[in-house]
Amino acid sequence: MPNPPVSADAAASSMHPSNPQSPPPTPSADKQQTSTTASAARGLSKTYGKGDTKVHALHDVDVTFDRGKFTAIMGPSGSGKSTLMHCLAGLDSATSGQIWLGDTEITGLNDKQLTRLRRDRVGFVFQAFNLVPTLTAEQNMTLPISLANGTVDTQWFNHVTQTLGLEDRLAHRPHELSGGQQQRVAVARALLTRPDVIFGDEPTGNLDSKVGAEVLSMLRRSSAEMGQSIIMVTHDPIAASYADRVVLMNDGALVGELNEPGSEDILAALAKLGG
Ligand SMILES: Nc1ncnc2c1ncn2[C@@H]1O[C@H](COP(=O)(O)OP(=O)(O)O)[C@@H](O)[C@H]1O
Ligand SMILES: [Mg+2]
Repeated sequence: MPNPPVSADAAASSMHPSNPQSPPPTPSADKQQTSTTASAARGLSKTYGKGDTKVHALHDVDVTFDRGKFTAIMGPSGSGKSTLMHCLAGLDSATSGQIWLGDTEITGLNDKQLTRLRRDRVGFVFQAFNLVPTLTAEQNMTLPISLANGTVDTQWFNHVTQTLGLEDRLAHRPHELSGGQQQRVAVARALLTRPDVIFGDEPTGNLDSKVGAEVLSMLRRSSAEMGQSIIMVTHDPIAASYADRVVLMNDGALVGELNEPGSEDILAALAKLGG
C-alpha cells in the first residue's frame, strides 16, 4: 500500500521557517548545506567541576551529522560519548562552542525554549525503555503528542506501527510485551513526532543479542526507509555496524570515522585507540 510521507515530508517539516534568523552551521572545511544537516557542533567543549576535580569531558569537538543518516558514536568508557549526545540533544549545556539542531542554534536558547525543542524536535530511545506501565502500547506511543496537545497523523501512525511490527500489540500494556517489543514501542514513540533527530544511548544495552539485532534493524529501516536521522551511542561494535557511519571518540575528542563499516573494521579501529 502507498505510504508517501517519507523523506520529502521529513525534510520539509524540519525547515522551521519560524527560526529565520538562526545562522546555519557553515564551516568552511566542509560544504554542508543547511538543509542536509541534522545536528552539528563546532568547537564544542564541556568541563565538569572546578579546580583539582575539573574534568574535560569534551575538548573542541567539530562534527556534523547528515540528515537521514544513522550514525553511531563509539569509543572507550569515559571518552565523552554520552556527554556529546546530551549536549547535542539539549539535555546538557555546552561550556563553550556552538551546537545546532537542523538550522537552529541551540546554544543560547533558554530553558523553556530547550524544553520545547526537545519535546517537538528530538526523539529519545534509552537503555531503559521508559514506558508508562499503566498505559497501553498505543497510548505510550502517542503520549508525547498528547502532552503537546498535538494531533496524531493516522496514516503515519499506521505506517510506523506496521513497519515496526506492532499493529497487533497496540492494546497491550508494557508488562504484556517482551523486552524487544517494548523497545520497539519506544522507537515508535520517538518516530511518531517526526523529530529532527532520534538520539539513542545504548538502546540495545538491556536486550539479548538476537532481540537487540531486531531493534537495530528497525532503527536502520527507520533511517533508510523513513529518512529518519539517528545518532546512537554504543560500545558494541556489532550494534554500531548497523549504522551508515561510525564516529570514534577518545579522551573527549573526535579521533576518526568509518563509513559503512563491518563489526571487524570497528573492532580494529577501537583496538588502535587502545581503550
Ligand atoms: N555529571 C558529571 N559530573 C562530573 N563528571 C562527569 C559527569 N558526566 C560525565 N563526567 C565525566 O566526563 C567524562 C566523559 O563521560 P561520558 O560522556 O559519560 O563518557 P562515555 O559515555 O564515553 O562513557 C568522564 O571522565 C566522566 O567521568
Ligand atoms: Mg556513556
